[in-house]
Amino acid sequence: MPKSLDEAIAALNDGKLVHLPTETVYGLAARADNAAAVLKVYEAKGRPSFNPLIVHVGSLELAQTIGDFSARALIAAKEFWPGPLTLVVPIKDAQMACDLARAGLDSVALRMPSHPVALAILKGVPFGVVAPSANRSGRPSPTTQMAAFEETGDAVAVSVDGGACDIGLESTVISFMDGLHYLRDGKISRAEIETALGPISDYTDQANRSPGRLSRHYAPETPVLINVTEPPKDCVYLSFGPTDFEGDIITLSATKNIDEAARNLFAALRAADALQPSIIAVAPIPDIGFGVAINDRLRRAAGFIG
Ligand code: TXA
Ligand code: MG
Repeated sequence: MPKSLDEAIAALNDGKLVHLPTETVYGLAARADNAAAVLKVYEAKGRPSFNPLIVHVGSLELAQTIGDFSARALIAAKEFWPGPLTLVVPIKDAQMACDLARAGLDSVALRMPSHPVALAILKGVPFGVVAPSANRSGRPSPTTQMAAFEETGDAVAVSVDGGACDIGLESTVISFMDGLHYLRDGKISRAEIETALGPISDYTDQANRSPGRLSRHYAPETPVLINVTEPPKDCVYLSFGPTDFEGDIITLSATKNIDEAARNLFAALRAADALQPSIIAVAPIPDIGFGVAINDRLRRAAGFIG
């Protein structure tokens, strides 16, 4: 095993923080059974402690010792894990996912990521690992190790480089508390979930506990304008497809490829911010498939959802 993976495992064992590369975004990881370690995560992010964390696992067996899986939750895990889907289920072992990790809730969010580096680290420890996105609270999520380091490098004992994230947006979150509810858009679409599990509904109560539902989120310093076809002169324009704009352009996808745009989105927001324009203008992204998740993040970056 490469040295950095061993070091990451040792650091997690010791209750220290680690940058964990996943297929979605980089996580700020700590062992979920250690309240002191989990507290460091909230502090490093400046995250409100009422906002619960996702516990990442290296096996379904470990997930089932931490959470209580209904037959339908088990189908979801078997269908979509390892991968970008987070399952909220009743807590079973409250020591394995400490109160702080769950923000005191009687439920726990669990995910088995598919990134080989994340999986190798998670399979190397006997506990679950909290890993919120490694940004400071409210800012765009990091999709490279360098971006993770800029955000929370001071807080980690080990920052593991797993390359640029393939998906680029956080996992889809669904809840099995009181039925089946959809909490956060991601690469795995609502339609895919309904095909596997049957109808899924919105659940505002649970949704209120998602940071995506807090006011401005995923946001750079610069104001963001979305669905822009005629970019103002002094903006940085995040383009999707061809454009004849003559100012600063950062291309989300030249060929209107939605997966590519998602992969580039957070890095593009960061790069645009670094240019310190008066405004970041973003081209319209089709609201279909993974585009729904992109538009969700963009609306929040633009501050439209309170
Ligand atoms: O892709 C991802 O999920 C990334 C990578 C690093 O794995 N992690 C991530 O974590 O996005 P975070 O903390 O930024 O988002 C966790 C989401 C939030 O919307 C939170 O409110 C929700 O999961 N959540 C966690 N526990 C919950 C619970 N018990 N009930 C309802 N929502 C919960
Ligand atoms: Mg986040």
